[in-house]
Amino acid sequence: MKSCKTRTNIFAICIVLLTCAPWIVYSVPEKFLLVNMTFVPNAKAQGAVCLDGSLPAYHLHRGFGSGARNWLLQFEGGGWCNDVESCLERARSRRGSTKYMNRWAVFSGILSNNASLNPDFYNWNRVKIRYCDGASFAGDSKFDNGTVSLYFRGQRIWRAIILDLLPKGLNRADKALLSGCSAGGLAAFLHCDNFTQLLPSNTSVKCLSDAGFFLDAEGISLNRTMRSFFDKLVVLQGAEQNLDANCTSSHYYPNQCFFPQYTLAYIKTPFFILNSAYDVFQFHHILVPPSADLRGHWNRCKLNPASCNQNQISILQGFRGEMLAALRFFLKYSRTGGTFINSCFAHCQSESQDTWFAAESPRMHNKTIAEAVGDWYFERKVTKEIDCPYPCDTSCHNLIP
Ligand SMILES: *[C@@H]1O[C@H](CO)[C@@H](O)[C@H](O)[C@H]1NC(C)=O
Ligand SMILES: *[C@@H]1O[C@H](CO)[C@@H](O)[C@H](O)[C@H]1NC(C)=O
Ligand SMILES: *[C@@H]1O[C@H](CO)[C@@H](O)[C@H](O)[C@H]1NC(C)=O
Ligand SMILES: *[C@@H]1O[C@H](CO)[C@@H](O)[C@H](O)[C@H]1NC(C)=O
Ligand SMILES: *[C@@H]1O[C@H](CO)[C@@H](O)[C@H](O)[C@H]1NC(C)=O
Ligand SMILES: *[C@@H]1O[C@H](CO)[C@@H](O)[C@H](O)[C@H]1NC(C)=O
Ligand SMILES: *[C@@H]1O[C@H](CO)[C@@H](O)[C@H](O)[C@H]1NC(C)=O
Ligand SMILES: *[C@@H]1O[C@H](CO)[C@@H](O)[C@H](O)[C@H]1NC(C)=O
Repeated sequence: MKSCKTRTNIFAICIVLLTCAPWIVYSVPEKFLLVNMTFVPNAKAQGAVCLDGSLPAYHLHRGFGSGARNWLLQFEGGGWCNDVESCLERARSRRGSTKYMNRWAVFSGILSNNASLNPDFYNWNRVKIRYCDGASFAGDSKFDNGTVSLYFRGQRIWRAIILDLLPKGLNRADKALLSGCSAGGLAAFLHCDNFTQLLPSNTSVKCLSDAGFFLDAEGISLNRTMRSFFDKLVVLQGAEQNLDANCTSSHYYPNQCFFPQYTLAYIKTPFFILNSAYDVFQFHHILVPPSADLRGHWNRCKLNPASCNQNQISILQGFRGEMLAALRFFLKYSRTGGTFINSCFAHCQSESQDTWFAAESPRMHNKTIAEAVGDWYFERKVTKEIDCPYPCDTSCHNLIP
């Protein structure tokens, strides 16, 4: 997503340089909460470093009142790197090194501390875990050819950050929620059960993935772009050992357990899947990757679904159908699971106020995403929302196609 637009907030600024993944657009309210960065001093001793060898970091804003013993941990997103060249490039940027990151993070949406913007989690301890490994926190290996070294230590970073947070109160958590968006939403799938294991057994643990349900789907050129992309990633970064063992032992291609749709059946912790059925990243990179549309027939449709022709719409509906098929088992049999699969052209809806909880936010059955996630987390209502297909949902108006 190169352009930034928002209808609802004239003071909106797209802080692309601060925290956005290339496809994530944030709009910042007038008064917004900025939270200081904390480095993990013991990380180096555990070999838990960013791609370039710098220290990993997170941002913690303390909870209060009835939320003082509850913890929300959120994985930052921002794509992946799956070969030495792309990882080297990343290591020299804020995506692969805390040296280049902004020391302050905006806490909005699910991270907001304002009850009228974030009704259920505003007073929890809220942590944004910075992403600097390029493999959704799942790799564990190293590249070194004498002139160049790259650290693939996402799994160690994840563990080092948890170990750092435990004595800060996480080890006495009453409730906990592990979330993340995009590559961070994928990390929430991959680490959910491990999070449960690392916390006291009487902590109530749940997980939420926002825009992390990347499908193992064929694009319009019949190529499975993500399958080969993730396969290279898992091999390069040594992630297979950290994938769900039950999944890898029952799949012919264990690396495929990097895909949420295969690992989901093995996750025991209550899980909420928030995703657009026409997720903009997946539309642009899985369904219609640039290599599959060299002549640009999809350019206008990619920017605005209203410009798609009938054939393109039916291809998009086919993608939605595949997503629902991949979720069928979960929708039908998971007793603790929740979903909000809407039909807005979006990518990441929990971190920006506009989509999380605002007058103009996307809704289903008149419920915002914040309300749906809260109802599920606190077990106020079973929440398995699936939207009708595009263009029926009239609450999608403030989203970027
Ligand atoms: C930011 O956090 C560091 C510790 O991580 C602390 O030393 C520093 O004083 C903080 N700065 C501000 C302005 O809060
Ligand atoms: C909380 O958000 C509401 C709605 O945007 C705003 O009116 C209020 O001033 C905010 N409160 C604080 C303490 O920032
Ligand atoms: C090490 O890898 C880098 C990046 O692929 C390459 O540019 C460099 O030539 C390699 N060095 C040696 C000694 O192979
Ligand atoms: C969990 O157990 C510990 C030790 O038995 C206790 O102090 C704590 O209050 C319990 N927490 C919850 C949420 O029940
Ligand atoms: C999961 O957590 C446990 C600690 O309870 C740890 O021993 C184990 O290595 C972790 N596994 C993975 C794959 O992260
Ligand atoms: C996963 O494997 C463990 C043993 O490693 C087993 O106890 C558990 O029941 C398995 N879960 C599923 C869903 O297969
Ligand atoms: C499809 O994949 C094959 C093999 O990976 C590749 O050679 C071809 O260029 C791809 N086609 C498109 C349109 O991406
Ligand atoms: C939808 O919810 C809002 C509050 O969130 C309420 O004011 C409105 O009346 C509801 N509309 C319907 C049709 O239920």
